[in-house]
Amino acid sequence: MIETLENTTITSKKAVFLKEVLTGLNSVPKTLPSKYFYDKIGDALFQQIMELDEYYLTQAEFEIFDQQKKQILQEFSPNGESFNLVEFGAGDGYKTKVLLKYFLSQKVDFEYIPIDISQNALDGLKKTLNQEIPDLNITPMQGDYFQVLDRLSHATSKKNIILFLGSNIGNFSPTESTKFLSQIRADINMGDHLMIGIDLKKDPAKILAAYNDQDGITAEFNLNLLHRINKELDANFNPEQFKHYPFYNPITGECKSSLISLQDQEVKIGNSTIHLSQWEPIHTEVSRKFSLKEIHDLAARCGFCITSDLSDRHGYFVDSIWKAV
Ligand SMILES: C[S@@+](CC[C@H](N)C(=O)[O-])C[C@H]1O[C@@H](n2cnc3c(N)ncnc32)[C@H](O)[C@@H]1O
Repeated sequence: MIETLENTTITSKKAVFLKEVLTGLNSVPKTLPSKYFYDKIGDALFQQIMELDEYYLTQAEFEIFDQQKKQILQEFSPNGESFNLVEFGAGDGYKTKVLLKYFLSQKVDFEYIPIDISQNALDGLKKTLNQEIPDLNITPMQGDYFQVLDRLSHATSKKNIILFLGSNIGNFSPTESTKFLSQIRADINMGDHLMIGIDLKKDPAKILAAYNDQDGITAEFNLNLLHRINKELDANFNPEQFKHYPFYNPITGECKSSLISLQDQEVKIGNSTIHLSQWEPIHTEVSRKFSLKEIHDLAARCGFCITSDLSDRHGYFVDSIWKAV
């Protein structure tokens, strides 16, 4: 019985994956959803990206947590009150662990609820947290941000603290950002907090290099999407016939990654055939950069006031602490 249920879930996940891929590839311009980057190989490649010199985002946010964890806890729990700590898109928790360890060392009572679309990432996270922080109370939840939001009920007597780190918000369109953050606001109580890690606008060359590293790891990460579609959706992309191409627009603040078709080609995906012209792009990910003013406008639009903007020493990144009003 259990096996049948699991098989049904796997089949329906595969059907959704296929539908979203075909919808994207039949759009003009062609697109693929970035949430599918994260299979086992994609998770491991993203861990390598976080270690790259060019990918300054991770070290900037790590520095903020390391240097300013005391202030963060003071804002989350000024009188030592207990809370739920819900993290959307937790990944491997490399930076969050700094906070988790500090909060426990301060004897704060909290439950950590990491959410991620990648079961592989959650399994790895739970394993390392059990080893490194055995006293941590952890309840992982797997799923897409928007689906999990529907399942979460924050109307508890405990305070809710929501984490949305690593500039994951930059992967949303402006409309999706407002929808997602407003929905979080509707689910939590007045006085609850959201801490959102956001990459700031800066020298365009610095931004572009973060998505175009010299070792080609980001290119491999982008191309892995085609390998995943081949494996899971019975497709025959030839990844060698595509080129990773990121570009940054300082006017919109969008760094967009794409895969450029190097020749006219036809790709079979299940029973469908997709035609790509030579030099046709498939848009795969947007990583939007913000000014402080844009962050403040977004918070106000979604029902929050900002209590602190914590930045790294270079002013590259900000962890903005919002309070539900
Ligand atoms: C860029 S990584 C960042 C991980 C972590 N927040 C950090 O700052 O290091 C994005 C994470 O979000 C997850 N993710 C991406 N899209 C998602 C979605 N739509 N729903 C839930 N998780 C998602 C990925 O699986 C991945 O672990």
